[in-house]
Amino acid sequence: MDKEEQDRLKKLAAVKAAELVKPKMKLGVGTGSTVAFLIAELGRRKKEGLNLAAVVTTSSRSKKQLESYGFHVAELATVDQLDVTIDGADRIAANFDGIKGGGGALTMEKNVAVNSRQVVWIVDESKMVDHLSGFPLPVEVLPISCVQNFKLFQAEGLNPQWRMSGNKRFVTHYGNYIIDLNIDPIPVPSGLADYLDHTVGVVEHGLFLGMCNEVIIAHADGNIEDRKK
Ligand code: A5P
Repeated sequence: MDKEEQDRLKKLAAVKAAELVKPKMKLGVGTGSTVAFLIAELGRRKKEGLNLAAVVTTSSRSKKQLESYGFHVAELATVDQLDVTIDGADRIAANFDGIKGGGGALTMEKNVAVNSRQVVWIVDESKMVDHLSGFPLPVEVLPISCVQNFKLFQAEGLNPQWRMSGNKRFVTHYGNYIIDLNIDPIPVPSGLADYLDHTVGVVEHGLFLGMCNEVIIAHADGNIEDRKK
């Protein structure tokens, strides 16, 4: 699928998802190129009078875009619970488990997701898989012990790779690094999530298990599938 076609599908999924956004909602808005289409559609609706109770987002890039349409973006800590969060994803398995963090915003994305009543992911069909596979798993680590974490992952056979930005390590919003684990497929996602959750120095990882309730998938034939858990 070429980029133009993929963008067309991303936009279709995003515009469909925007229909879920109703006035007075507390809304979570994710990160990525698919979400950028969602924000543009929300901006269009704002001009027509869409009034939300609160908007929280998961990256400075999305924040900037939302503000450019006149939305006030609140801090998550000031909002009790979000009604719905709409975000992109890098891979989604048949059971709605996902890999996220391709854009490096996984920590905020997970915090927003777990504080939302409903989590909706919007994707083109290339992101759908039977079992989590086909995308490196991002792990955000603290700089102070990142080398130890890297060596540990090597020893565990998790094929770590530093996320780079040019010739420097990629730095997250929180000043941390990302190590991408190349495990394909991920045989037991819950086991790996448990291991990473208990590894000192790991801030967050891109396994989003049991967090998503609804997936809007744009298929190549133009069909928009709304799959609910
Ligand atoms: C950001 O950290 C990611 O989790 C994104 O949500 C994910 O990479 C999807 O991005 P695209 O919509 O650009 O594919």
